[in-house]
Amino acid sequence: VVASDAMAMLQVTDQYLELHDGEIVILTRESATIKTLDGEVLERAPYTAEIDASDIEKGTYAHYMLKEMDEQPAVIRNIIQHYQNENGDIELTEGVRSLVSEADRIYIVACGTSYHAGLVGKQLIERVAGVPTEVHVASEFGYNMPLLTEKPLFLFISQSGETADSRAVLVEVKKRGYKALTLTNVAGSTLSREANETMLLHAGPEIAVASTKAYTAQIAVLAILAYDIARANGKKLPFDLMTELARIATIMDSVMAQKEIFEQLADKFLKESRNAFFLGRGMDSYVGLEGALKLKEISYIQAEGYPGGELKHGPIALIEDGTPVITLVSQPNTHLNIRGNIKEVVARGAVACTISMEGMEHESDAFVLPRVEPLLTPLVTVLPLQLISYYAALARECDVDKPRNLAKSVTVE
Ligand code: M6R
Repeated sequence: VVASDAMAMLQVTDQYLELHDGEIVILTRESATIKTLDGEVLERAPYTAEIDASDIEKGTYAHYMLKEMDEQPAVIRNIIQHYQNENGDIELTEGVRSLVSEADRIYIVACGTSYHAGLVGKQLIERVAGVPTEVHVASEFGYNMPLLTEKPLFLFISQSGETADSRAVLVEVKKRGYKALTLTNVAGSTLSREANETMLLHAGPEIAVASTKAYTAQIAVLAILAYDIARANGKKLPFDLMTELARIATIMDSVMAQKEIFEQLADKFLKESRNAFFLGRGMDSYVGLEGALKLKEISYIQAEGYPGGELKHGPIALIEDGTPVITLVSQPNTHLNIRGNIKEVVARGAVACTISMEGMEHESDAFVLPRVEPLLTPLVTVLPLQLISYYAALARECDVDKPRNLAKSVTVE
């Protein structure tokens, strides 16, 4: 069997032989012979994929997406276990530590949901560790590379580790002699093998095309990375990260236990809707982008995410009677501003679905989340958006796990 992603064949085998660029494989019933383009035969031992085939079963769930959303609290706990030592301190490999300690700027490169996690990661790394960080969409970065600093570190974020746009950038930066760290869910994936170091997401296989648990895992691992850099640089840490992550896992459990609320919200706001807007400020605006991506890819509702302040610069022209506007209110420094934005859209006929956080809530809010540290709110604010998207897709009878025109691993540019 030949495939572009090991995950696709897990039910057939756990033995894989990887094929590199510029190689040819000749397959017969008995053998696989790898040759260079010059005809030289290459010896390559197969490797064993460390994924349990039972992890890719749907079990009693109707959809992989639902199962994967439900797994998020466990994934966060798994990440805590993997990245802390017996004293409860964050422990990264020496390789990762030395890579980040040498960097004068971090360039995050990713696509789709992983790019959205990167936006959160930039805030975490800059605000906690004080290291300048840029985030780039891989397909743009590849062809329009910005000026680089003297000691850049490239941080690739990719659930699959196979995304072609990101890989094209990795090939180019390696050619230029720069160092790369990959955050991925798949050990042994191309982006992992070809980078200098890897940090794994430990999220377990993600099968649904719409990425959910990988997003929250990426943010948790990025927070751990930011904390480790901060500690190495002698920065004062704003709060105890591992304790807060453990608390967040419990909050995630409680949100996931209230799914019917989000099913009702999806029915009320999105079932018959042609379009939808997601608003937020700061961290909330990044999560809004992710909410909009989730909704559009699985329900085919045209959805756009905007920072609240941008409304009056154009998008407000699209607000009319009945337009659903889903707003996140979790950032203490801007909660009054975003409330102002909600008033602006409601005054123009929008129907507001507001997800807020304790301490910033209003009576009319659709759902109030328990309070978490402002830097980590994306780990919980994204859950209502994932669930609303899921139920909107169900209500519209869409194929949740395999939306049209999309592939799980995007292995072509
Ligand atoms: O495997 P990757 O994280 O590199 O994939 C990147 C995007 O293709 C992926 O996040 C895509 O946007 C998802 N369908 C979003 O749910």
